[in-house]
Amino acid sequence: MTANSQSFAPVPDAQTASYQAFIGAFRKLWAGPIYRELRQQAGALPDQSPEAYDRYEARLAQLPIHQLFGWLEHNLQLMKYRGAHGVVPMVEGQRQALEQALLQPVPDGMLTLSEDMALPDYYKLTDFHHHPGGLREDPLAGIVYRTSAGAAGGVVGRAGLHRLFANHVTRDRGFDRVLDIGCGFGRSTLAFAGTGSDTRAVGIDLSAGCLRLAAHLGAEIAGKDRVRYLQADGASVPQEDAGFDLVTSTMLLHELSADAIRDMTAEAFRLLQPGGEVAHLDFLPPDDNFLRALFLGHSDRNAEPHMRDLAAIDLPTEFQKAGFADISITPFDETGGETGDGWRLPWVVIRARKPQ
Ligand SMILES: C[S@@+](CC[C@H](N)C(=O)[O-])C[C@H]1O[C@@H](n2cnc3c(N)ncnc32)[C@H](O)[C@@H]1O
Repeated sequence: MTANSQSFAPVPDAQTASYQAFIGAFRKLWAGPIYRELRQQAGALPDQSPEAYDRYEARLAQLPIHQLFGWLEHNLQLMKYRGAHGVVPMVEGQRQALEQALLQPVPDGMLTLSEDMALPDYYKLTDFHHHPGGLREDPLAGIVYRTSAGAAGGVVGRAGLHRLFANHVTRDRGFDRVLDIGCGFGRSTLAFAGTGSDTRAVGIDLSAGCLRLAAHLGAEIAGKDRVRYLQADGASVPQEDAGFDLVTSTMLLHELSADAIRDMTAEAFRLLQPGGEVAHLDFLPPDDNFLRALFLGHSDRNAEPHMRDLAAIDLPTEFQKAGFADISITPFDETGGETGDGWRLPWVVIRARKPQ
């Protein structure tokens, strides 16, 4: 049997398809009209200045429309994963075929696993996004993650996001040796590998299940000369000093403890050649009280406790301490010009350069 990208896509039966379509349609209502009604009512509240944030947040919490918005955000996510026809039971029902596909060989040198490696505490303690068991142990965790990201109603990581970010980062300068930390099932790694004919990308992650899937998809789409995958912690990467000219991550920093962000920043500095750059795509809360409250609420409701750490840490100072220069944090339009007026996360690009 030869595996291809379809081999890793569980096939929904009719009930699962309609259940997931229901969640997707409800999510559109949540992010569109319900969000807009909430924004209008929240705009009429007193205490809009950042200094009065705590009072504002308490008032917002009293609005029934805010309670409905929060309830839907939390429960639609739970239903998508764990409901009667959620992604988890669907994948479980096809476990044997999916595991068999994953265990097919990948090209030599494309995948290096260290399955007995120690996982950081913050990673063991949270089932991020309410994914049961997280990406830690189940060999099918990467397939669950990919299916959920593609299922109707995925809140983040829309199709095209990774290419937009990679094109943005390489707009003025190409990078030949890229390290993608927290590569998941390889969407971000492939996007960077595709930015130049000489570009080679290494994706690292803690999750063996994600990396196995990434290697299969990478072999099919890019080939082993362009991408390779390695099981490693971004805070301690078994690669030589100055071996990369770009260290990047997509949707990683907000999952890390404050200490892990600091350790990874120092490690990126070691791994970069002088003149090399870091570029992270992530989320930071805006100054506006309403958007800040929704950002912090998302952290609680979507099992993303460390979004609060990322919001609290002084990133420019941390990057400076690690030795970086030219530090910038700029908003990022993840939709490529189609933001509309619905709910969206506050995306930012965080960049810095290792001096020559
Ligand atoms: C939200 S996912 C993003 C995946 C991918 N970058 C994408 O955009 O599709 C975050 C990933 O970071 C990984 N991760 C978390 N902590 C890590 C660490 N210390 N070192 C390496 N990877 C880590 C997780 O296993 C997960 O796959």
